[in-house]
Amino acid sequence: MIIMVMIFLFLIGSAVILQAHLCGKKEILLFPPVNFTITVTGLSEVLLQWKPNLNQDPRIKCLYYKVKINAPCEDDYETSGTKSTSENVLHGGFSASIQTILYCGSSFFQSSWVSAELQAPPGAPGTSVVNLTCVTNILWEDVSLHCTWFVGKNAPEDTQYFLFYRFKRHTEECQEYRKDSWNRNIACWFPKTVINSKGRGKLAVHVNGSSKQAVIKPLDQLFDLHAIDQVNPPVNVTAKIEGNCLTIEWEKPISNFPRKCFDYELNIYNIKRNYSQILRIQENSFSLIIDPTCKYSLKIRATVHFSCRNNGLWSEWSQSIYVGEDEPIHLTEWLLSVLMATVCFLLLSLFFICRTCQVWTKLFPPIPGPNSKVKDLFLSNIFEKSRSGETEIEVISYVEDPALDNLDDSVF
Ligand SMILES: *[C@@H]1O[C@H](CO)[C@@H](O)[C@H](O)[C@H]1NC(C)=O
Ligand SMILES: *[C@@H]1O[C@H](CO)[C@@H](O)[C@H](O)[C@H]1NC(C)=O
Ligand SMILES: *[C@@H]1O[C@H](CO)[C@@H](O)[C@H](O)[C@H]1NC(C)=O
Repeated sequence: MIIMVMIFLFLIGSAVILQAHLCGKKEILLFPPVNFTITVTGLSEVLLQWKPNLNQDPRIKCLYYKVKINAPCEDDYETSGTKSTSENVLHGGFSASIQTILYCGSSFFQSSWVSAELQAPPGAPGTSVVNLTCVTNILWEDVSLHCTWFVGKNAPEDTQYFLFYRFKRHTEECQEYRKDSWNRNIACWFPKTVINSKGRGKLAVHVNGSSKQAVIKPLDQLFDLHAIDQVNPPVNVTAKIEGNCLTIEWEKPISNFPRKCFDYELNIYNIKRNYSQILRIQENSFSLIIDPTCKYSLKIRATVHFSCRNNGLWSEWSQSIYVGEDEPIHLTEWLLSVLMATVCFLLLSLFFICRTCQVWTKLFPPIPGPNSKVKDLFLSNIFEKSRSGETEIEVISYVEDPALDNLDDSVF
């Protein structure tokens, strides 16, 4: 036993000495790996595999490989293994290169590159779906997925699209589509998926299609789960007014994230003044001073704070709730405004009809006698303007005539 251990140690020792000896050399010949292959193992997922080169001097240990993805996105990394999985969209093809490398003391040696590629799947340009967007939502333990897209501009009318998603090793086809007027699928809904409810990892979505008239190009998209996860809106939103102090309270959305993980946005809209205020809050209640004679509408939405997860989407707004006084509308004021508006409208119409037909002078050759001061002012002025061909704007400016100031104020 002891002898075996000693032999083993001796072997390691000699290998280290040999490696050190080799490192002293200016040049070490490294051969690139062989039999480099790329295999599609799932939606937007490939397996890269290669073998060590048998011509390589077996005394050289600790060889590494450098993998370089050339398309669709440039990326590179090192590994000591002879296979590697890569997640990438594949609708535009995929290509990668690999070389053998050796770190030896302070020197670095590398072999030449070997490359392999996957051709892009066939399809006519402009036939794939465009603007694919997906959103996930969690209700208790179930993560639902909703995706929408637009039909490609060159897709024939008989095109049908099919959507698949992959999360880790699970792939599933959509069963519930929404269709456009040509019966083409344009949205998909998975009420329940196997997606991680903490919103970690990537989601691969693939939309391909078929048509009798053209080959439909597929589309792949990879989504960061945290970026497409939409939390539910806050629940049990209540508000009360005491004097001029408004207090709003709510509970965290239905979610697996604890209470401390949420950020809220409160929208307070003053209906009378048509003015809204948006406030960012971390607590579950908020108080502020308001004008209690105004009516307000309040709504609130939530998002997961970055301390618990990378930033994602805001939830939908909660249902609006209303507080404050309804501004009573006085009947007389209302009637007066309607009356005034009608009169203005009639006068304006008359003015335009007369202008276009040039019948004013035929119908009313003399200026009518004054039966009311206001009417007289109106008519004479319009008469003048119609003759001189002035514009509508000046009729309106006439309303500012001091003779009408009192009437004006009481109406508006
Ligand atoms: C590479 O592939 C060829 C043909 O498939 C095979 O004969 C050869 O043994 C492989 N080389 C290695 C190192 O596995
Ligand atoms: C897709 O999105 C782009 C950019 O957001 C937009 O310009 C384009 O109009 C959208 N296409 C369709 C069909 O809506
Ligand atoms: C669409 O993609 C799925 C999953 O890769 C595949 O099973 C199916 O045959 C494809 N359909 C068409 C029409 O290309």
